[in-house]
Amino acid sequence: MAKLSPSLLSANFAELKSEIEKLEKGGADYLHLDVMDGNYVPNISFGTPIIKSIKKITTLPLDVHLMIDKPERYIKDFVDAGADIITVHGEATIHLHRVIQLIKSFGVKAGVSLNPSTNLNSLEYVIDDLDLILIMSVNPGFGGQSFIPAIKNKIKLTRELIDEKSLNIILEVDGGVKLDNVKEIVDLGADLIVVGSDIFKDSNLELRTSQFKTIISN
Ligand code: DX5
Ligand code: ZN
Repeated sequence: MAKLSPSLLSANFAELKSEIEKLEKGGADYLHLDVMDGNYVPNISFGTPIIKSIKKITTLPLDVHLMIDKPERYIKDFVDAGADIITVHGEATIHLHRVIQLIKSFGVKAGVSLNPSTNLNSLEYVIDDLDLILIMSVNPGFGGQSFIPAIKNKIKLTRELIDEKSLNIILEVDGGVKLDNVKEIVDLGADLIVVGSDIFKDSNLELRTSQFKTIISN
């Protein structure tokens, strides 16, 4: 059964507490937190102070997606802020293997994210150490983009690879997921579904979240 990780990128930050409560009531399993530095991606979002505050008001695990250059500089800060999963991009660091070990040394789950153009093979020598693979189905940086159809095949291949090697890896899909395509994405083998704009565009966040949960739980 797939799980749901709503992305707060499209939330109303002035109402963050009540928005998170609605996501929880609707059945969110994780909270997906998109950290952007205006360098690795052309947009700036938020950092550790916000995550620290969120940690105090929720028991949901925090799924932190770092879209920042040289993430090794900040891993400890995100662990201290309360991250339960930290996902980095391979292109953002010279020493991906070392960053994965660093994340795991804090007892936090380590993920690597693949941009739409990044080949699955790039994970060949680190895959045995991973807790999560995050497949980007849009180019990272912004919410509200359209799902790139070519990525369906990458999801399928990643599922096959994880199953073939009997790895204990969560397969997360992020970007352009909507009520009308989420079922297909789960059927391709995704375990953890990120949804941003298609939840927050609805004024009834709780109902919208529960609609996603119903589809992905069946
Ligand atoms: C994009 C982020 C996503 C984004 C998803 O760089 O990683 O998590 O918030 O938003 P939607 O669901 O609107 O594509
Ligand atoms: Zn994300």
